[in-house]
Amino acid sequence: MSKETAPSRYHPVHVALHWLMFLLVIMMLGVGKFVMPGVPVADPQKPSMLQIHAYIGIFITILLVARLITVFTTKRPAPADAGNSFLNFVARAVHVLFYVLLLGMALSGLGMFQQANLPAIFSGAAPYPADFSVYPPRIGHGLTSTLLLLLILLHVGAALYHQFIRKDNLLSRMWFGKR
Ligand code: HEM
Repeated sequence: MSKETAPSRYHPVHVALHWLMFLLVIMMLGVGKFVMPGVPVADPQKPSMLQIHAYIGIFITILLVARLITVFTTKRPAPADAGNSFLNFVARAVHVLFYVLLLGMALSGLGMFQQANLPAIFSGAAPYPADFSVYPPRIGHGLTSTLLLLLILLHVGAALYHQFIRKDNLLSRMWFGKR
């Protein structure tokens, strides 16, 4: 393989980061949207649930930075062909949007961390707010999480379209193996 040839797969560090982030983000979206709202503010478990959420969110942010470094420092496979130029454009836009939305989740989360003084809530020194929406980043966090969920559905749908309709085995590019 000449140095100019695009590899057939992503770099193994990129692959590991992709699947680890995928699992963590799905879990955070599921718990954040469907479990946390059902736990009453007075429940003694509520602050520790939020603490775990915030620390995993900070961990995802660190993974995101590592991922961006990997994107710009390793060789990537040639852009996938979805069969028409509009779909190819959408695919590129979706990939950029993922980074933008994840950055939005991180920044709005950290904004709440600072504005609501989350460490005081975790330790019980401050009460759990009746409604976090009094802090503006909470609005952005909620809206961005909905967009992220929709984007993930689109992304998974596209991966399945490639795998089972175009049958181009695109998923193998995001797995470990000889490049
Ligand atoms: C990729 C990272 C993250 C994801 C996917 C995520 C996901 C979510 C979701 C889905 C919700 C509920 C939104 C809704 O009501 O629709 C939520 C709420 C929240 N998140 Fe995150 N989050 C992330 C990072 C963070 C970080 C880094 C922090 C703080 C350091 C944080 C703090 C909070 C807080 C304070 C709430 C509000 C809890 C409440 O209303 O009781 N999140 N998050």
